[in-house]
Amino acid sequence: MSEIGTTADPAFATDALIARNIEAYLDRHQHKSLLRFITCGSVDDGKSTLIGRLLYDSKMIFDDQLAALEADSRRIGTQGREIDFALLVDGLTAEREQGITIDVAYRFFATETRKFIVADTPGHEQYTRNMITGASTADLAVILVDARKGVLTQTRRHAFLTQLIGIRRIVLAVNKMDLVGYDQSVFERIVADYREFAASIGIDAFTPVPISAFKGDNIASRSSNMPWYGGPLLIEHLETVEIDGDADRAKPFRMPVQWVNRPNLDFRGFSGLVAAGEIRTGDPIRVVPSGRTSTISRIVTLDGDLDRAAAGQSVTLCLADAIDCARGDVIAAADAPPEAADQFEATIVWLDDEPLVPGRAYLLKLATQTVSARIQTPKYVINVNTMEHLAAKTLELNEIGVAAFSTERPVVFEPYDQNRALGGFILIDKITNATVAAGMLHFALRRAQNIHLQPLTVDRETHARLKNQKPAVLWFTGLSGAGKSTIANLVEQELVRMNRHTFLLDGDNVRHGLNKDLGFTEADRIENIRRIGEVARLMADAGLIVITAFISPFRAERQMVRELIPAGEFIEVFIDTPLAEAEARDVKGLYRKARAGELKNFTGIDSPYEAPEAPEIRIDTCRTSPEEAARLIVSKLIP
Ligand code: ADX
Repeated sequence: MSEIGTTADPAFATDALIARNIEAYLDRHQHKSLLRFITCGSVDDGKSTLIGRLLYDSKMIFDDQLAALEADSRRIGTQGREIDFALLVDGLTAEREQGITIDVAYRFFATETRKFIVADTPGHEQYTRNMITGASTADLAVILVDARKGVLTQTRRHAFLTQLIGIRRIVLAVNKMDLVGYDQSVFERIVADYREFAASIGIDAFTPVPISAFKGDNIASRSSNMPWYGGPLLIEHLETVEIDGDADRAKPFRMPVQWVNRPNLDFRGFSGLVAAGEIRTGDPIRVVPSGRTSTISRIVTLDGDLDRAAAGQSVTLCLADAIDCARGDVIAAADAPPEAADQFEATIVWLDDEPLVPGRAYLLKLATQTVSARIQTPKYVINVNTMEHLAAKTLELNEIGVAAFSTERPVVFEPYDQNRALGGFILIDKITNATVAAGMLHFALRRAQNIHLQPLTVDRETHARLKNQKPAVLWFTGLSGAGKSTIANLVEQELVRMNRHTFLLDGDNVRHGLNKDLGFTEADRIENIRRIGEVARLMADAGLIVITAFISPFRAERQMVRELIPAGEFIEVFIDTPLAEAEARDVKGLYRKARAGELKNFTGIDSPYEAPEAPEIRIDTCRTSPEEAARLIVSKLIP
């Protein structure tokens, strides 16, 4: 291990060692309960020093690393023989020199009675997303305050964010007490300031501890410098505080189904992590949203069958009856099932560089459910420093707002403050696959049970058969003046000549009727395409070959329509005309107006056009005449 001991960067050495030892380590501490917590504060507050101290006092540092650490402390110029614990956890050298820790680092340590995972997240406002990430699984937060500075704007922000993410156990660690002469009145003033703010955002309880992470006062041993303090030591408190898992056990049973385990015809089990409550064999259950009931016949795990399982355990449940149950369903206590709904209000934390686009469809993941969801324009955003509610049209990176949203299918849920597993969700961009937001459900705006899909006796197959054709949606996209309408017209004429039943939906026409309330802002264009998509779907259900000619500039909405139409029936036709060419033709004189500034949000000028990446058909209008293009498209549809 000596090669690691001599590594120049002790933090790196720590990570490598911890990674190597982690399995053996966790194994050794298997019987102990696990507390996950987050530390909030900045480097200046002594956050890294505190974490280093916790690791040190719980003997998670090995001797050879200590030697390296001492050498490094000397090299960096820490005075005397004291060790700079911050060096242990501050990540890579570059970050250390910048004085900030950027990503969420998870550290493990254990004491005689409990094991711990601490999420070390940066404290600055631009790292709100890191903090939310670290906090999302935490049972407890340690909010660090520098005794010399007291409660700061950032302290209030940290308190608000931890409250928002649902952490109910807070330690207010007033650090650097050594630098204020271990003065009781300083501590008490800070506690009073914090209490006043905490009460204003609904936090009624927290545990204040005066510490010096640097000197070790009140961390693992009682400080003789603060005889006036009679409360718990920091480690003592962390060792004894109640863990969420314990509280979750008292709630009604819920297990979101992760997958259906069916190795052969003799066995069918539903695997997942128990999110709340307890279950025993013989207990009655209900599958939500279907509402079907059964009883638990077996509880299977890798280590054999159990007769009971509780929140926090991963199990496979077998049911006495062969009822339908699939991934995304929730197996729940029969007499206290969660509800399903498709319209909600939620607090949303925006995590992406690209702001929220209201009206756009994102993928929403909640427990094991994945559905398409549209977020409305936020009701307000919250200034995280002053708690003010401000009007907003969107959510930008690190902003937190409250908004209503709808999902394409009912989602089984519980309010976030009752159940984090069934009330917390993330949003994913359908095109980039990036996680763009984290959300916390407040309540359902409408119960999904009240809207039923009417089963139709004359179905889409019947319509199609009568018309003697296969329905399709030919979705034209391209710049204004690219030639969409011209080619679409020729395609329709050709199809009619072949006795096909068609309908052409054209941008300019639809905007005179159905969509005359819409303009050309991003939000209006999205709504324009959403409505056209729905109309096209109805027409395809009626058996028609639908041709649409809209700029439809955004990939996300074209994708959304593609998902609306049965597989294979959506044909994206990219009318590819370079901007310079469309502008040179300028059939309607609109480019001239746009260049003169008389027309705002004009596609290609001051509003973007996102070309299709893999259209079914691409027409290069510089090389292909409209007639030729039409022939090509028709031959692709009817070979
Ligand atoms: S889309 O972006 O929402 O798909 P759509 O195809 O319905 O647009 O309408 C585009 C037509 O509206 C253009 O062909 C043009 O005639 C007209 N138009 C008027 N203002 C604009 C604008 N700002 N940007 C683009 N097209 C505009």
